[in-house]
Amino acid sequence: MSRPFTDGEVIVLVDKVGRRHRVRLRAGERHSIHSGLIQHDDLIGRPEGIVVTTQLGARLLAVRPTFAEQVTGRRRQTQPIYPKDLGAILIAADLYPGAHVLEAGTGTGALTMAALRAVGERGSVVSYEVREEFLEAATRAVVDTLGSVPGNLTLKLGDVYAGIEESDMDRVLLDLAEPWQAVPHVKAALRPGGIVFAHCPNVSQVQRFFDCLREVRGFGMLEAFELLQRGWTVRGRSMRPSHRMVAHTGFLCFARRIDADELFEPEGEGFR
Ligand SMILES: C[S@@+](CC[C@H](N)C(=O)[O-])C[C@H]1O[C@@H](n2cnc3c(N)ncnc32)[C@H](O)[C@@H]1O
Repeated sequence: MSRPFTDGEVIVLVDKVGRRHRVRLRAGERHSIHSGLIQHDDLIGRPEGIVVTTQLGARLLAVRPTFAEQVTGRRRQTQPIYPKDLGAILIAADLYPGAHVLEAGTGTGALTMAALRAVGERGSVVSYEVREEFLEAATRAVVDTLGSVPGNLTLKLGDVYAGIEESDMDRVLLDLAEPWQAVPHVKAALRPGGIVFAHCPNVSQVQRFFDCLREVRGFGMLEAFELLQRGWTVRGRSMRPSHRMVAHTGFLCFARRIDADELFEPEGEGFR
């Protein structure tokens, strides 16, 4: 069932060249863009997917933001995980309904909310953030996106390099500059068979993270990959790769906690 747009919600207006404008609908207000004005009252109460016209005749498609647009399209103080990587992380780290997830750092809350969505109501997410102002911004992002901070999400002010209070976690997600500093604590917090993920923008970070997993022992199946996203233009007879692509963002690194104080690294390449 299509729900009509309501006063107070955030929508996206898409113009003819694909530019997206985030607009919070407020009764009686109007939104100005280069191609004219849109009255919010022309949208409130109307169904998603309508096309509206500015007083200058420009046509705009009105839709609700997708999850990726909601969590990564906000003004922010730190770099969120890119949408192209978010989905891959959830599958490769195998975040399943009911899983208990430990994350650090929270940053904008983009990965936090993706994880929360994957684990569902039976699961839980605890997210550590060392900077108070980032934690406050992430809390606002969660409230804007989900309406409130759900009971199965704990946003925690804390330094993950200093320790992790939780134990028996199913998954650990790390997106911070020195993930190797968290490895001894991750070893204690993760249950056997659990998976640790680290997002590493630089290959030197991958090496140091993996070296540390090997030193600390108790991990296996170390793996890293990256995703390059090349869009295509499909318009009339023009079918070709886009001029620009979302190329390197970060290496996605994974390992499994094993129930032995050794290292288990199969010789073959790739198990995915
Ligand atoms: C790249 S951002 C994380 C972005 C996040 N994954 C997202 O999707 O928005 C890194 C975050 O880690 C936080 N951080 C850095 N060191 C930390 C630590 N030792 N413990 C907890 N958080 C930390 C930073 O303050 C920053 O907010």
